[in-house]
Amino acid sequence: RTTELDSICLKAEVIPVLTIQRLEDAVPLARALVEGGLTVLEVTLRTDCALEAIQRIKEALPQASIGVGTVLTPAQYRQAEEVGADFVVTPGTTEALYRYGVSSPVPMLPGVSTVSELMAGWQYGYRRFKFFPAEASGGVKALKAFAGPLSEARFCPTGGITLENAEVYLAIKNVMCVAGSWLTPASLVEAEDWHGIHQLAREVAQRYHH
Ligand code: 3PG
Repeated sequence: RTTELDSICLKAEVIPVLTIQRLEDAVPLARALVEGGLTVLEVTLRTDCALEAIQRIKEALPQASIGVGTVLTPAQYRQAEEVGADFVVTPGTTEALYRYGVSSPVPMLPGVSTVSELMAGWQYGYRRFKFFPAEASGGVKALKAFAGPLSEARFCPTGGITLENAEVYLAIKNVMCVAGSWLTPASLVEAEDWHGIHQLAREVAQRYHH
């Protein structure tokens, strides 16, 4: 599990989070990001067209790794498996999700914001977590504090990450990557400015990816 997630996250220090409002945006938006150099994406299950969008992105861009995000229940986890998710991301955790994730063929990046939630996942063998909502839950200070009792854990901080603060997060020892919606600004998506998104992705990929 840890190895699978590491191999995905090593490809991407920055993971764009996509919430697809119009199905027809899915492929051009994902293509702009992937061809810009950000090859690991998270697509949230927050809109009616999300599952269909993920299927289309998987088909059009087989070189990309697609995480299915905002998974709240084992039933949604199963849907993510069915559409070919490479990994599953949750905003928070429940016992049911932790348990389901252990036996699923698709690895989960569980969302936590406290040491107790981390410890609950730890018992199931989880070592990689989403730290959400990062900025609102103590940000850099909290991550540094987590390293004391749980030094093996690695995080993908999400929630309030921006072009400006990404660098500070990525410099922390227990941060493996960051994620966020800042790479898909509504102003560019609504204008179907795929070129603008491609440029933004390129700039970020050049700055952070090795
Ligand atoms: C998520 O689901 O991961 C968040 O909505 C992303 O947070 P952000 O919009 O603050 O980047």
